[in-house]
Amino acid sequence: MKILGISGSSRDPEISGVFKLVKTVLEASEVDYELVSLRGKNIAGCIACLGCVKDHVCKVQDDMTALREKIVEADAYVIGAPNLYSGVNALTRALLERLYQFRHQEGDILWGKLAVAVGAGGTSGQLCCDEIERFMGYNFIETVARVSGQGAASCFTCGYGETCRVGVPIMLYGEGVKITDDMIPDVARQPDVMAAAQRAGKLLGQRLSEGYDRSEVTAKMQGMMMEKFKSST
Ligand SMILES: Cc1cc2nc3c(=O)[nH]c(=O)nc-3n(C[C@H](O)[C@H](O)[C@H](O)COP(=O)(O)O)c2cc1C
Repeated sequence: MKILGISGSSRDPEISGVFKLVKTVLEASEVDYELVSLRGKNIAGCIACLGCVKDHVCKVQDDMTALREKIVEADAYVIGAPNLYSGVNALTRALLERLYQFRHQEGDILWGKLAVAVGAGGTSGQLCCDEIERFMGYNFIETVARVSGQGAASCFTCGYGETCRVGVPIMLYGEGVKITDDMIPDVARQPDVMAAAQRAGKLLGQRLSEGYDRSEVTAKMQGMMMEKFKSST
């Protein structure tokens, strides 16, 4: 069994809340894992060329080509994204769109696998978890847990945080705010969030090691997606 962790943050893993949370989930799983950061990677969005319809292989040549192999080989995923304008960042979104290559005919390459959705935002990462979970559903992947934390908005360190009217410090603490190091959010200092990440990892590890039935998960997810499609028309 192997889990593929993907941190969609473009920031240095040293300061990325998403990276820390994804890593915490992976470590708690006690399953063999690989963690890939999308920082610096070149991944374009789906161009709807339909080149993948017959063989489930995307024809766009970029860093997704190498990542595809890892996605195919993994039994489960821990996917994390930073909240940029109330949704996942463009890099993560591009990767999620490119999962379209697996979504044709009897393309059961990803069906019935498991996932954990992770999000971090200057306020919250919940909207990212929603989006990741939705994309997992499109490929009949079950999201077994979600982990959302408050990451450090760049406004705390950009140099103008105490006076900038559109910045997060003033929005969170009001005019006249004095920024101190302890005010800068860090998921590692949020016990509830770290505990949720550990629980999510343990649960994912348990589900994988208990020998879960992929066809059962596939059927469950297919049923859920059909209900969703019906209610959205
Ligand atoms: C362009 C931009 C837009 C952002 N928009 C939001 C937002 O709408 N909501 C939010 O909660 N945080 C927002 N943030 C803050 C990031 O989500 C926050 O810095 C988070 O910690 C980033 O994740 P990372 O630490 O893993 O890089 C934004 C940051 C940037 C750079």
